[in-house]
Amino acid sequence: MKINSILIISLVLVFKANAATLPQYASEKHMGVATCSSGVCHGKSVEDRKENVMMNEYREWLQYDDHSGAYKTLLKPTSKKIAAKLGLKSAHTAKICLDCHADNVPVEKRGKKFQISDGVGCEACHGGSEKWLSVHKESGATHQKNIKLGLYPSEKPKNRAKLCLSCHLGTANKFATHRIMGAGHPRLSFELESFTQNQPAHYKVDADYEKRKGSILSVNMWLTGLVYKANEQLALLKTKQFKQHGLFPELSFYECHSCHRSMAVSRWPVEKNSANVPAGTVRLDDSSLVILISTLDSLSNNSASKLKGLLEELHRSSIKSKQVLLDSVQKLQKELQQLSSGFVKKKYSRKQKLNFRKKLLLDASKGFFRDYSSAEQLFYAVETLSLDLNDFNKYEKMLDKLFNAIDKEDKFYPSQFQTLAKLFLNKLP
Ligand code: HEC
Ligand code: HEC
Ligand code: HEC
Ligand code: HEC
Repeated sequence: MKINSILIISLVLVFKANAATLPQYASEKHMGVATCSSGVCHGKSVEDRKENVMMNEYREWLQYDDHSGAYKTLLKPTSKKIAAKLGLKSAHTAKICLDCHADNVPVEKRGKKFQISDGVGCEACHGGSEKWLSVHKESGATHQKNIKLGLYPSEKPKNRAKLCLSCHLGTANKFATHRIMGAGHPRLSFELESFTQNQPAHYKVDADYEKRKGSILSVNMWLTGLVYKANEQLALLKTKQFKQHGLFPELSFYECHSCHRSMAVSRWPVEKNSANVPAGTVRLDDSSLVILISTLDSLSNNSASKLKGLLEELHRSSIKSKQVLLDSVQKLQKELQQLSSGFVKKKYSRKQKLNFRKKLLLDASKGFFRDYSSAEQLFYAVETLSLDLNDFNKYEKMLDKLFNAIDKEDKFYPSQFQTLAKLFLNKLP
C-alpha cells in the first residue's frame, strides 16, 4: 500500500470514529416522550431556577417547537395529497414519511410509553434513554457518563450537524427524492447555526452549561455546518440515493432552480460562475461550498483556491460520467475532511469576521451567487455574522431587504439580489 493511501484511510477513520451513531440507528430502546414529560421532570410549567437545566423543556417543545407537530403534519390534507400522488396507503403509516416526521425506531426498540404520534420527540435527538433514564438524574451523573449510556452528544457541532442533517437533508436510508418533491413536499434547506437559532431553545448556554458541555461560538457553528452539509451531500452521491431513473439521475441532488425558473430571466453570467460549465448545464447544488469558499478566501491561506479548483472539477465531471464524478467527489471530500476539525475551535478576531461579511457581500455584488440556494445561504451567513458582530440592529433594514429578495423562491431575481448586496456593501465601514 502506498503511503498516500495509508494516509487517506487513516484520515477517513479519524473522521468516522468521532461521529456518534444517530439516535434512530443506535441500539438503545426509546422509552417515549411520556417518560421525560412528568411534572417533576422536564414537564414543569415554568423554568426551575434551582436546577441546572430548565425542566420545562417538554412545554417549550410541545407549544413552540415544530418538531412536536411533525407527525400531525402527516395527517393534514397536504400530506394526504402527497401520499396519494406517490401511491402510498397513507402518509402517517408510510415508513418514508415517519422516518423524518417521527422517532421511527423499529417496534422492538420502543418502550411501553413510546408513541409514534409524539412526532420528533426528545429521544429522536437525545438518543434512546433505556440505559440513562433512571441514572441521569441521580447525584454523581455527569454528561460523559450519560453519553456512555447512549445519550447523543448534540452539543458537539459535528454530531449536531449529522443529527439535524439526517432529516433536513436525508441519509442513505431516508431521502426526500424528486418524486417526493414532485408530489408536493417542500424543498429542504438547512444551515446549522440559523436552524439552531430558529428552533425554539429549551436550553440555556450559560456559565453552568459551559462548564458541563463547553460552548461553541456561532461563527464556528456556522462554518462547521457548511463543511458538514457539503460533506454529507457529497457522501450521498456515493449511495444508492443517487441512482438513475430512466435517462435521468436523481434530481434532488441538483440546484432545484436550475430547472424550476422563468425562461425570461437570464441567470447565466457572461463571466465564470462557481460551476464554470457551459450555459444550460444542470448544476449540482453547491450552495454550502460556494459560501465556504468565499469566506475562506478572505483569510490568507490557500484552502479557498484549492476547494475552488476541486469544485470546478466536480461540476465539469458531473457532465461527463458517474465514475468521473465519483472520483471528483472523493477528492473534494478529502480536502473537506482536512479542513473540518479546524473550524470547531478556531477563534476568529472581530476584524476577521468583519472581513468574512465584507467578502461575502463583495462576491454577491459581483453576481457570484446567482443560484437561489446560494443566495439563501448568503442570507443565512450575513445574518449570522451580523448577530455575532453585534451590529444586527444597525443593518436590520438591509437584512430585511435581502430576506425579502429570497423569501419567495419563485420570485427570486439574481440581478436584484446583486444590487441589494452592493447597497449593503456600501453601508459597511
Ligand atoms: C427526526 C428528524 C429530525 C431531526 C433529527 C431534526 N429535525 Fe428539524 N424538523 C423535522 C421535521 C419533519 C420538521 C417539520 C415539522 C413540521 O412542521 O411538520 C422540522 C422542522 C424544523 C424547524 C422549523 C422549520 C423552519 O423552516 O423554520 C427547525 C428550525 C428545525 N427543524 C431545526 C432542527 C435542528 C437545529 C435540528 C438538530 C438539532 C433538527 N431540526 C433535527 C425533522 C427533524
Ligand atoms: C429526509 C427527511 C424527510 C422525508 C423523507 C419526508 N419529510 Fe416532510 N419534511 C421534512 C422536513 C425537514 C420538513 C421541514 C422543512 C422546512 O421547513 O425546512 C418537512 C416538511 C413537510 C411538510 C410541510 C410542513 C409544513 O408545516 O409546512 C409536509 C406536508 C411534509 N413534510 C410531508 C411529508 C410526507 C407526506 C412525507 C412522506 C411522503 C415526507 N414529508 C417525507 C423532512 C422529510
Ligand atoms: C430537534 C432536536 C431536539 C429535540 C426534539 C429535543 N431536543 Fe433537547 N436539545 C437539543 C439541542 C440541540 C440541545 C442543545 C445541545 C445540548 O446541550 O445537547 C438540547 C438540549 C437539551 C437539554 C440540555 C440542557 C442543558 O443545560 O444541558 C435538555 C435537558 C433537553 N434538551 C431536554 C429535552 C427534552 C425533555 C425534550 C423533549 C420534550 C427535548 N430535549 C427535545 C435538541 C433537541
Ligand atoms: C433537471 C431538472 C430538474 C431539477 C434539477 C429539479 N426538477 Fe423538479 N421537476 C422537473 C420536471 C421536468 C418536473 C415535471 C414537470 C411537469 O410535471 O410538468 C418537475 C416537477 C417538480 C414539482 C411538481 C410541480 C407540479 O406541477 O406539481 C415540484 C414541486 C418540483 N419538481 C420540485 C423540485 C425541487 C424541490 C427540486 C430540487 C431539490 C427540483 N424540483 C429539481 C425538473 C427538475
